[in-house]
Amino acid sequence: MLVFLVFNLLIQLSRGGDIGIYELKKGDFSIKVTNYGATVLSVMLPDRNGKFDDVVLGYDSIKDYSNGTTYFGALVGRVANRIGNARFTLNGVVYHLSANDGNNTLHGGKKGFSKMVWTVEDYQANSHITFTYNSPDGEDGFPGDVSVEVTYMLMDTDKLAIKMKAKPKNKATPINLASHTYWNLAGHNSGDILSHTIQLLASKITPVNKHLIPTGQIVPVAGTAYDFLQAREIGSRISELSDGYDINYVLDGTSKKHFNKVAMVHDSKSGRKMELWTNQPGVQFYTSNMIASVKGKFGFIYHKHAGLCLETQGFPDAVNQPNFPSQIVNPGATYEHIMVYRFTTE
Ligand SMILES: *[C@@H]1O[C@H](CO)[C@@H](O)[C@H](O)[C@H]1NC(C)=O
Ligand SMILES: *[C@@H]1O[C@H](CO)[C@@H](O)[C@H](O)[C@H]1NC(C)=O
Repeated sequence: MLVFLVFNLLIQLSRGGDIGIYELKKGDFSIKVTNYGATVLSVMLPDRNGKFDDVVLGYDSIKDYSNGTTYFGALVGRVANRIGNARFTLNGVVYHLSANDGNNTLHGGKKGFSKMVWTVEDYQANSHITFTYNSPDGEDGFPGDVSVEVTYMLMDTDKLAIKMKAKPKNKATPINLASHTYWNLAGHNSGDILSHTIQLLASKITPVNKHLIPTGQIVPVAGTAYDFLQAREIGSRISELSDGYDINYVLDGTSKKHFNKVAMVHDSKSGRKMELWTNQPGVQFYTSNMIASVKGKFGFIYHKHAGLCLETQGFPDAVNQPNFPSQIVNPGATYEHIMVYRFTTE
């Protein structure tokens, strides 16, 4: 309850008074979102005995979301993930972006869509909510005006769809949106996700340098700690990596460019299972390696590996990597990104 009192207080205090919390509910399945960063605040799911838990990490107040560096639940853009040296060249023009991750741009830059107050376009509590945002020419250094739309929709009593759309109005620009939700199927406050089982339907990754910028290579996962083609525990080989998983997987369905299954995650303690489909070529698998004593919902402290992210996306730094699928969208064209999650127990 505390979390909502705090939010209500902040709604009253916020300039313009236009930050709100919106619930979607179908049967017992419910989520809460806010137009601040088009952010997912909570997802309530039953375990195999019918006990409900909130399975996404988050903060207690909008102030924490605005000051935070974790992107909990946020919709990130204009270009999700990293752009090396905060610059790229398009049609002969060099664009300088805002650097917010060493010399690189992360999740759009210093402003980023995740720190914007979006407009509530349409809200039906038993089905969906649509947020819109108009990103101006030059925002964080990107070219051209872009209108952006994201819809969160409950389908049946076990599926959540996230539909993202963006239209450049006057200049070609890279667009790569992502939903940055941190999942812990045992409950957001249950500890780490290392005993969750994951399957990733991806036989290649895009390796990165020490600044987490892709080298441009696309390499097979077979025989390495990155191989999750068969379901296994996230923690089973994590000690072979310096920090944990934070890598873009090349989805096996990429070349087909249609809706593909990406991943299955299962927590044997609660029985909760999550499956994910998308139309995107990649997914960033991140195991909260940089979360260190972050004060979250109800004052709970999140530690390293407290959650996992499956950020479906185009490949990182694609604007500077000629062999990666292009993210350039021209005026008149529409960027479309769909994710569907299905939640069950077993
Ligand atoms: C903002 O976040 C930083 C850490 O990222 C923290 O040190 C600081 O206390 C926070 N400020 C407020 C006002 O919450
Ligand atoms: C950023 O670039 C400058 C100039 O090349 C370099 O001296 C500095 O070490 C870089 N910083 C990081 C964090 O990589």
